[in-house]
Amino acid sequence: MAASNDEVVSLLTTAYCMELETVMNYLANSVNLDGVRAEEIKKSLAADITEELSHATMLGQRIKQLGGTLPGSAGVEVGAQIQPPNDTTDVVAVIKAVIDAEESACAHYKKIIKATDGEDYVTQDLCIRLLADEEEHLVLFRGFLKEYAKA
Ligand SMILES: [Fe+2]
Ligand SMILES: [Fe+2]
Repeated sequence: MAASNDEVVSLLTTAYCMELETVMNYLANSVNLDGVRAEEIKKSLAADITEELSHATMLGQRIKQLGGTLPGSAGVEVGAQIQPPNDTTDVVAVIKAVIDAEESACAHYKKIIKATDGEDYVTQDLCIRLLADEEEHLVLFRGFLKEYAKA
């Protein structure tokens, strides 16, 4: 059975918080990392920040259309994701943290896609597009891991 409107708003709000958490962690990692090996990863993360923020914006607009409102900073639940490493040259730890965050995002979008099936096509369509973006990030960072885990 398809989820109720309130359930969809709740799922979208969780996705919104997850996107904002990736913005914070990708921003921190894109600034914190040191060393030659980190340069490409920093650039890639810096580009992702804008994309994840646009995801949060699209989710926010859909939440509003469904009659919900966005939480302010006190209502945004964060802290579930792997934190930036203390060692600022640990590029592999950052890549693994990104893969973990992207896998969680993919799993959550798949959950919303299932919950809205046959009912809320607009939310479903949005989440399919977001899933496509996150799968692209995932493939990119899995590729980075292949290379960086060798050295
Ligand atoms: Fe995202
Ligand atoms: Fe992503």
